[in-house]
Amino acid sequence: MRKEKVTIKHILKKKRNNEKIVMITAYDYPSALIVDEAGVDIILVGDSLGMVVLGMKSTHTVSLEDMIRHTMAVARAEPSAMIVGDMPFGTYEPSTQKAVESAVAFVKAGADAVKLEGGTEYADRVKAIINAGIPVMGHIGLTPQRYLRLGGYKLQGKRRQEAQELLQDALALQEAGAFSIVIEFTAEETAKMITEKLDIPTICIGSGRYCDGQVLVYHDLLGLYDHTPPFAKRYVNLKQIILDAVKEYIKDVKEGVFPGQEHVRHSKEPIE
Ligand code: KIV
Repeated sequence: MRKEKVTIKHILKKKRNNEKIVMITAYDYPSALIVDEAGVDIILVGDSLGMVVLGMKSTHTVSLEDMIRHTMAVARAEPSAMIVGDMPFGTYEPSTQKAVESAVAFVKAGADAVKLEGGTEYADRVKAIINAGIPVMGHIGLTPQRYLRLGGYKLQGKRRQEAQELLQDALALQEAGAFSIVIEFTAEETAKMITEKLDIPTICIGSGRYCDGQVLVYHDLLGLYDHTPPFAKRYVNLKQIILDAVKEYIKDVKEGVFPGQEHVRHSKEPIE
């Protein structure tokens, strides 16, 4: 039976009721069907797409067109989960107008909300997108689109001063109207402090146990790559399962085991 569609009201209520929010990335139709059937609250069409699906070195080269195509594929699964489209590098920084236009493109593709990286410096973009009627999820801490400025993919919020700056970012996003904030790869104490000070939920990746929700990248959770970030939990080694299945297929074809009797259909009369 189909569940009721998850909206920002449900997500905000979860924080008030102290219920955890579960988000996962998905980038295509079959993965969206599976994660929705499993019962996640939010499907993030993350710009991690660039690395885990398209084989890029960073998220910098992900285009709006890439994100729109994959958001459309996820939306075709008609999930009950909320679909959040991740605004890629260069699609909101130049101006509020560009930010609104990019966010509108996501909604036309089937997204229920958008996410963008950054804090105080982009609060005006967040406000403008919300004024256009589109819910926004913030993203602070390790913001991979800024890895050059951050000096790499490093743990954030280790010191009191840094933690205070992140709190100011989170408060600016909340004030601008964001309905939730991703906190990526910060010290657990920092994410806990921010979570306690906000009215809107925090959804964390690599920032510890005290957030209102968690997010994992689909490929990390399923073990589709040999490397998994240290903060991600690999629930299954799907790479090994796929590898074994494809090797068995190769063996079957070479040995004439596949196709078997059950896979063939016969003509009605002799064929010469
Ligand atoms: O793109 C992505 O997958 C993300 C998550 C890591 C939050 O932004």
